[in-house]
Amino acid sequence: MDNEKFILTTLISSERIKERISSLAEEIDRFFQGDHIIVLGVLKGALFFMSDLLKEMKTDLAYDFIQAKSYEGTTSSGIVRILKDPSLELKGKKLLIVEDILDTGITLNGIIEYLKKKDPEQIYVCTLLDKRGRRVVNAEADFTGFQIDNLFVVGYGLDYNERFRNLKDVCVLEIKS
Ligand code: IMP
Ligand code: MG
Repeated sequence: MDNEKFILTTLISSERIKERISSLAEEIDRFFQGDHIIVLGVLKGALFFMSDLLKEMKTDLAYDFIQAKSYEGTTSSGIVRILKDPSLELKGKKLLIVEDILDTGITLNGIIEYLKKKDPEQIYVCTLLDKRGRRVVNAEADFTGFQIDNLFVVGYGLDYNERFRNLKDVCVLEIKS
């Protein structure tokens, strides 16, 4: 692990992210016109995306966080554990889950199954990135920032073993060992 060498190449620049977020915020505001919603950010990856998106949104909202884990390194373990439970009351509420990336769909499915038990009115999903080609379970976002190919990406909240989250751009990570 210590001899790993990393090559980072920008895939989506911070400027492009910013532009896309303004149009996404408008789209979400139009959709939820007149509603009160609870936004649930999926820790830790959605931190920067959620923060930038919510500042552009005008919808009446409250926010909270949920944390789930299904990944070790670059492969999914297929098991979703809930590590942090939202503290707001979710019963009868419209929820908007904000995710960093939809890959196999396993994490999102696990989160949705878990949240359904709290009896919300409806659950919607917004993801910054979508690797649609990688889906192994049925999971779709209602709002998507960017479709990307099957590449392992880091930055703007996304990590490789907890590293690189604070990069401004979304970058492709290549590991040479
Ligand atoms: P899924 O369960 O396979 O859909 O994976 C979703 C989770 O895996 C995300 O919330 C990320 O934490 C992680 N993940 C999937 N693809 C990537 C990637 O390319 N870079 C970093 N994390 C990823
Ligand atoms: Mg992760």
